[in-house]
Amino acid sequence: MLIDNFSRIHNYLRISITDKCNLRCSYCISEDLPHGYFANQIKMSSEEIEKIASVFVKLGVNKIRITGGEPLVRKDAEKILRNLAKFPVELVITTNGVFVDEFINVFKEIGIKSVNVSLDTLKKDRFIEITRRDEFVRVKNNIDLLLENNFHVKVNAVLQRGINDDEIIDFIDWTKDTPVHVRFIEFMPFSGNDWQNHKVISHKQTLDEISKKFHFIELINEKNDTAKKYFVPNHKGTFAIISTMTQPFCSTCNRLRLTSDGKLYNCLFGKEETDLLTALRNNIDIEQLIINNVKNKYFMLGGNNENENWGIKNIDTRKKSMINIGG
Ligand code: 5AD
Ligand code: SF4
Repeated sequence: MLIDNFSRIHNYLRISITDKCNLRCSYCISEDLPHGYFANQIKMSSEEIEKIASVFVKLGVNKIRITGGEPLVRKDAEKILRNLAKFPVELVITTNGVFVDEFINVFKEIGIKSVNVSLDTLKKDRFIEITRRDEFVRVKNNIDLLLENNFHVKVNAVLQRGINDDEIIDFIDWTKDTPVHVRFIEFMPFSGNDWQNHKVISHKQTLDEISKKFHFIELINEKNDTAKKYFVPNHKGTFAIISTMTQPFCSTCNRLRLTSDGKLYNCLFGKEETDLLTALRNNIDIEQLIINNVKNKYFMLGGNNENENWGIKNIDTRKKSMINIGG
């Protein structure tokens, strides 16, 4: 088992299979990436992903999430999914939803039950402003398609003041007759994403806004949940808030992240990485590297704010963004 120095068992691995994405969400990635940004990037082959994942499974990982970038833009995404589905793990995926119609049969065949789709607005024009691409209708239809096929669908909405904070109620209205699980995510700083303190809509502010129209009840959270879940009586769906910024959930963290170039991070905000891919290619035993990486995990926020009150004022922005480290 992968246990760190704070007795946290790490059984959940998130694998980013590509940095590439077919959208350009402003909070995630800059529109003008340097020429050749994605060209010649080293990335794990499907066989290497399978090999590395097998070591994690041996070490007790029983849940794997495929992320990106956008995982479904990778040409061999289907092969990777099929390979990973053979392990005794709960396999889940985070996608921007654009290619879900092309993959839904694969999802069904290999037993994926839960799909996270990123969608920050219910308005077509605004979707184009946020993502800089015109894919709203396809994404929305694909969410319906997933629901018709009985997938558990979580919709991730990153809230930003002045951009989409006027839609909080609309999202809750959507859950009335639709069994989607909306998750409002506090806007996090990454380099180049124009993060500013005042743009964060906090957990509390989101709840205050919802309570203007709805009465809601807090659901019991599972041990490692990063989202605080709520439901409005008689609504088919639920909502949740992921409060990385104002109420970090480090004490129950069970996750590890593998980037598409094969580097292991034990925290979204951590700076230390372990290069598993190079080690694998050099026939070095990666099992011990993984064990050591987990042993060195900081208690909180990658060691950025140890012993201080973590607050959105004194955040240390890291170089990587979600597109590198995986959502
Ligand atoms: N702040 C909060 N969430 C973010 N995501 C990407 N960038 C950020 C950010 N700066 C979210 C995406 C996706 C999830 C994997 O991470 O919306 O749903
Ligand atoms: Fe792509 Fe997701 Fe980043 Fe948007 S947030 S650009 S969909 S990786």
